[in-house]
Amino acid sequence: MADHKLAVIVLAAGEGTRMKSARPKVLHTVAGIPMLGHVLATARALDPAHVVTVVRHARDAVAAAISELDPDVVIADQDDIPGTGRAVEIALAALPEGFDGDVVVVSGDVPLLDADTLRDLVSAHRAAHGAATVLSAILDDATGYGRIVRAGDGSLDRIVEQKDAAAEELEVREINSGSYVFSVVGLREQLPRIGTKNAQGEKYLTDVIALLRGAGSPVAAQPVREPWLVEGVNDRVQLAAVAKRLNQLIVRGWQRAGVTIVDPDTTWIDRDVVLAEDVEILPGTQLKRATRIDSGAVIGPDTTLESVEVGAGARVSRTDATHSVIGAGASVGPFAYLRPGTYLGADGKIGTFVETKNSTIGAGSKVPHLSYIGDAEVGEGSNIGAGTITANYDGVNKNRTVVGSHARTASHNVFVAPVRIGDGAYTGAGAVIRKDVPAGALAISVAPQRNMVGWVEEHRPGSAAAKAAAEATGEAGETE
Ligand code: UD1
Ligand code: MG
Repeated sequence: MADHKLAVIVLAAGEGTRMKSARPKVLHTVAGIPMLGHVLATARALDPAHVVTVVRHARDAVAAAISELDPDVVIADQDDIPGTGRAVEIALAALPEGFDGDVVVVSGDVPLLDADTLRDLVSAHRAAHGAATVLSAILDDATGYGRIVRAGDGSLDRIVEQKDAAAEELEVREINSGSYVFSVVGLREQLPRIGTKNAQGEKYLTDVIALLRGAGSPVAAQPVREPWLVEGVNDRVQLAAVAKRLNQLIVRGWQRAGVTIVDPDTTWIDRDVVLAEDVEILPGTQLKRATRIDSGAVIGPDTTLESVEVGAGARVSRTDATHSVIGAGASVGPFAYLRPGTYLGADGKIGTFVETKNSTIGAGSKVPHLSYIGDAEVGEGSNIGAGTITANYDGVNKNRTVVGSHARTASHNVFVAPVRIGDGAYTGAGAVIRKDVPAGALAISVAPQRNMVGWVEEHRPGSAAAKAAAEATGEAGETE
């Protein structure tokens, strides 16, 4: 049931200059979704009555992404007064006037923060009847962060930003993670009182702590259980580190759920991938986006699947596949390239050096070697010979090739689409099939072979070929 006394504010208006990117920082992806997507999912997991995201930099791109990630999020536009304090002030204005509960504030660039950590923070805040509860972290190197300044009795006194800190404050290793719970009433009172007289000329949200304490309201800071949970991303080095950490968590989760992952270091699994028990993942494998793999399937080595469905017991080796379906018991690769719209039926095969696109290959049908199958439909139990090309593009339009069931087409065929090959039909090696082949027919299109006996002896006398031919035919064809 929704917590009617809870709102979450996600700060995402900052520019993220250190990313040096045309893409807004919070839209850089980890585990297949934007960082902001992870934060919004965590926010939603708290089941709050309201989620508000503050935007400004690259406003339209960020707002569009938010609507796609979670259409129920309220978007609040920050004005040109800078700072986290201003951002929260703007967000509060987007909440219903009567809202008198607690507000969780998080940043859009802290993707590893989980709902359990925030739930604990909210519980601690409520148990203490706090006005503000800050999630802190104790770091070996606190450089860059706001420092938690505690009074003589250990209670939270205030937060000082790195750029405004005195020398002895810079020694403090307890930092402000940038996540907080506030009681909205006190926050509403204090935010308008924050000034911009500081090293950065911004309205600091962190200044609210000293103001609340001065007003006699209880404030506290609570260290997070693992510092990496609150690791923020400011540049691409941190982006890779956070992505690696998240991948480790995802891989471990699947291992505990019964998936064999031979080499966690070279296996990358996006957040939305779903794996069944007894799936086996071999080294060098990336499973992306909406990929789903059923039990007993073996994937890899060196395989990338993006939004691919793999049926039970299938085998996919050294393959690159996107937006495709691989049936149960089917076999793909090594060295196969499945482009969008490939459907391989149960027990079917797409073999070595085969490219497919927008094609259905029916149950038990095989395309074993060196082929391009595009815009095609193959029935069940058919075999497509080695080196077959569907000539689907006439330079203007894409046309379809239809092969029936239990057909046997020969090596090195070209199917010039649009063309149909009937059920149970055969074709001859090297055929160029331009006309439909009726069911049960054999189609050949190459000229009959002529052997010109003695041609080598006559036209290439004295050559190695001529000598070899002479020996093979038993003639003493020694010539000087
Ligand atoms: C902030 C905290 C600091 C803390 C650190 C943790 C303040 C004043 N300082 O510093 O104590 O240790 O986070 O990472 O809050 N944002 C807006 N609007 C703005 C400015 C920022 O929405 O006008 C957003 C940013 O997009 C970002 C978040 O707020 O998601 C934090 O902003 P950032 O500039 O990174 O703050 P820090 O200097 O890191
Ligand atoms: Mg920051």
